[in-house]
Amino acid sequence: MRYYSMKNTVDSLVFATNNAHKLAELRAIVGGRYNILSLSDIDCHEDIPETAPTLQGNAEQKARYIKEHYGYDCFADDTGLMVDALDGEPGVYSARYAGPGHDSKANMELLLHNMEHETNRKAHFSTVIALIQGDETRFFEGRVDGVILREPCGKDGFGYDPIFEPEGRGVSFAQMSADEKNAISHRGRAVAQLMDYLLNK
Ligand code: IMP
Repeated sequence: MRYYSMKNTVDSLVFATNNAHKLAELRAIVGGRYNILSLSDIDCHEDIPETAPTLQGNAEQKARYIKEHYGYDCFADDTGLMVDALDGEPGVYSARYAGPGHDSKANMELLLHNMEHETNRKAHFSTVIALIQGDETRFFEGRVDGVILREPCGKDGFGYDPIFEPEGRGVSFAQMSADEKNAISHRGRAVAQLMDYLLNK
């Protein structure tokens, strides 16, 4: 009888997103160490509820939904851009800042408008990742501090990238390569902690 070793197989983990930018960022960070599946890879096409008042609550809600409905070990993230002069807005509502059905451009325009007369431009991105493996749930958090620019700069990235300049860098996230951004970004830092846990547990 022949025995096959499973040691060299790569574990699969569902990342509860269909955002192509996030998947590409994540797969670049993770390298070949995990096979990251998207929601469409597991044939999940419904809208996953995201109704919690905190980043942690939303991340857990999304991960738990996949675990309960599809049975996969999985992780989900939730990100917010917190602007000091706006008392932490748009925060947990960053995706819907300009209202339902509006895109990133509308969100950025509204934010620039609301910041027009503000001299305090300080802001930070936070990402919380919820990981569910079996019956264990863990959280990982990453943050990057910076400032809100007065107009969009750069073409790369997504979301609020063109108007966010990480501290001390002199360029916006949208002017950085994916590698440069991942090395210092909120999500990059949260994912680094996630990977540290997965690879060393
Ligand atoms: P989500 O929780 O990742 O869906 O992000 C919420 C909102 O923040 C969305 O409007 C995203 O476009 C925005 N966002 C998330 N991550 C980033 C990023 O790395 N750069 C710029 N905007 C982001």
